Amino acid sequence: MPENPPLLVEFNRPVMMGKENEYMAQAIAAAKISGDGPFTRKANALLEQQLGVPKVLLTTSCTHALEMIAILLDIQPGDEVVFPSFTFVSTVNAFVLRGAKPVFADIRPDTLNLDESQLEAKITPRTKAIVPVHYAGVACEMDAILEIARRSNAAVVEDNAHGLFGKYKDRYLGTFGVLAAQSFHETKNFTCGEGGALLINNPALVERAEIIREKGTNRSHFFRGQVDKYTWVDIGSSYLPSDILAAFLYAQLEQREKIQTQRQMVWNYYYKNLKDWASAHEIQLPYVPEYCDQAYHMFYMLLPTFELRQGLITHLRQCGIESVFHYLPLHLSEMGARFGGKPGDCPVTERVSDQLLRLPFYNVLTREEQDRVIETTLEYDF
Ligand SMILES: Cc1ncc(COP(=O)(O)O)c(C=O)c1O
Repeated sequence: MPENPPLLVEFNRPVMMGKENEYMAQAIAAAKISGDGPFTRKANALLEQQLGVPKVLLTTSCTHALEMIAILLDIQPGDEVVFPSFTFVSTVNAFVLRGAKPVFADIRPDTLNLDESQLEAKITPRTKAIVPVHYAGVACEMDAILEIARRSNAAVVEDNAHGLFGKYKDRYLGTFGVLAAQSFHETKNFTCGEGGALLINNPALVERAEIIREKGTNRSHFFRGQVDKYTWVDIGSSYLPSDILAAFLYAQLEQREKIQTQRQMVWNYYYKNLKDWASAHEIQLPYVPEYCDQAYHMFYMLLPTFELRQGLITHLRQCGIESVFHYLPLHLSEMGARFGGKPGDCPVTERVSDQLLRLPFYNVLTREEQDRVIETTLEYDF
């Protein structure tokens, strides 16, 4: 067999799901292609109504929504913020940019979410915020996390990059923290290539959020006729996407039921066809507590060892199938080490990082493609 045959099933494929081209053409024809045009307002309103969030602001990425959050919470040098070590760099970097000291907590071995039982021990008088990440769109234990945050006077920020339309105890993810961040990167359920959203659950933060997003100016207030000129009033940056991107995204959000139903079918088919094989080989499949509605963002599995994980990636690739792994533990990264991270600090994160593999997963993955992935996986020689 050749070393690298042509790719037959890629890991991710962003797909048009509705009126993306039509809406982008409308935005262009209306000659309103900078930020906060009609499609941005429509996308904000759709998310506000569906999720029940007082204010949603589209952003240029989830990373930027998180950066805005760190500014909004007035994170100062030396403030401590608690994160799971098993997450994407941006979750943490956004706060470190303001001078925060990251405090890494381990994850639960079942959902791979922040382990709430270890949270209390990470809190100090300097703790300013706790940032749970709803990994794979399955909710963190929000009751316990909110209670610890309340007792320690820390803000809860949800990194909901994976979890749009997922629920915890019948309530949408992104509505629990004072602030939450969404991603519309091309790997996400809903995309415009690069994009994100800031969810603001405390209305008192809306005005400042608008200023931070508009380069530190009160331009939004000027456009609404609330002031007669706009000027520099705070720190900020350019966090608003072009209305062309918002038009693309709005077309996707309109198709949310179809997209989520298709992804649910893909997820269920993997689970049904891999579960016996997985239990026979001590492979852990995703766990979704019964009080959580997952967002069907990804399908992962944990192989018994690093070598078996690497072997399966190679085996799949040799059969034309792309699979990937993530995240490298942040406490062991070059930056994490500068903040005192060392091996053994977060043992579950360190193990999971070595064992996790993600199978191809996107809205229009066909049954034929999925059968190929499943059959090839079942053929893997342990
Ligand atoms: C948990 C998490 N947070 C934040 C991000 C950053 O998202 P974006 O690429 O939209 O900035 C990602 C990216 O995949 C992520 O997985």
